[in-house]
Amino acid sequence: MNDANIRSVLSGQKALVVGVANDQSIAYGCAKAFRTAGAELAITWLNNRARPFVEPLAQELGAMITGPLDVAVPGQLEAIFDRIRTGWGKLDILVHSIAFAPKEDLQGGLLNCSAEGFAKAMDISCHSFVRMAKLAAPLMTDGGSMFAMSYYGANRVVPNYNVMGPVKAALEAACRYLAYELGPQGIRVHAVSPGPLKTRAASGLKDFELLLNEAAQKAPLGELIDIMDVGFTCAYLATSFARRLTGGTVFVDGGANIIA
Ligand SMILES: NC(=O)c1ccc[n+]([C@@H]2O[C@H](COP(=O)([O-])OP(=O)(O)OC[C@H]3O[C@@H](n4cnc5c(N)ncnc54)[C@H](O)[C@@H]3O)[C@@H](O)[C@H]2O)c1
Repeated sequence: MNDANIRSVLSGQKALVVGVANDQSIAYGCAKAFRTAGAELAITWLNNRARPFVEPLAQELGAMITGPLDVAVPGQLEAIFDRIRTGWGKLDILVHSIAFAPKEDLQGGLLNCSAEGFAKAMDISCHSFVRMAKLAAPLMTDGGSMFAMSYYGANRVVPNYNVMGPVKAALEAACRYLAYELGPQGIRVHAVSPGPLKTRAASGLKDFELLLNEAAQKAPLGELIDIMDVGFTCAYLATSFARRLTGGTVFVDGGANIIA
């Protein structure tokens, strides 16, 4: 497919991308791929500290709607969806590319994770996707697609992934149930499971370098992935070429997940 053809596949589609922290973020790869495919963008930043890093990227991609969104702050999620309703009147694509666990709960092993830490990780990394889906669905009047970022630690034990394993397993299950509930409206829901990528979120995981080395060695395709691989996978899944796909977990990992 040449550049001109790529630019038309999501032409006219409106996409909300949540989770850009910097130009290494998986969410940035998604936003860039959607833009390359012709979509219009809404991009959020976490707070005023993140804004100077995210706003220039949103401008570079010509995002029409921008603003703050901390899913733990009551009212901010509703506010961004209000802006989308008044500005666009519809939405076609939603990306949830956010995760959080308190450091002491993330790094101490699952047994030592506090109830508060578990609940916080689950709320920000999983239930916020359900809240977003509820607000997005009424705007997806022509159908649409929703994406949440998972990881292989949901399916198998990955040392040091700790509490995020059960949290991502819940996220993948949530994707299946949302796909079931939203399918009748023509809305498709995907968990996307990228291989390890050097991002800010990943820097909170102990011995992450080991994971990167192992991923490259294990993958049949023999290389680490990059954020544009994730972005273009989501862009493809958002097109009508993928109109019969929903509810599954899509691995973007060079095939590493098939290896014992
Ligand atoms: N990097 C990897 O190796 C990898 C692999 C598989 C899946 N993932 C997942 O991809 C997603 C994106 O992570 P990333 O690796 O691009 O790192 P990142 O640090 O670039 O992105 C994480 C984002 O989460 C946002 N966030 C945290 N708390 C939030 C809150 N309360 N409200 C709104 N946003 C909040 C941050 O602002 C940041 O933009 C996460 O779900 C992560 O678990 C990452």
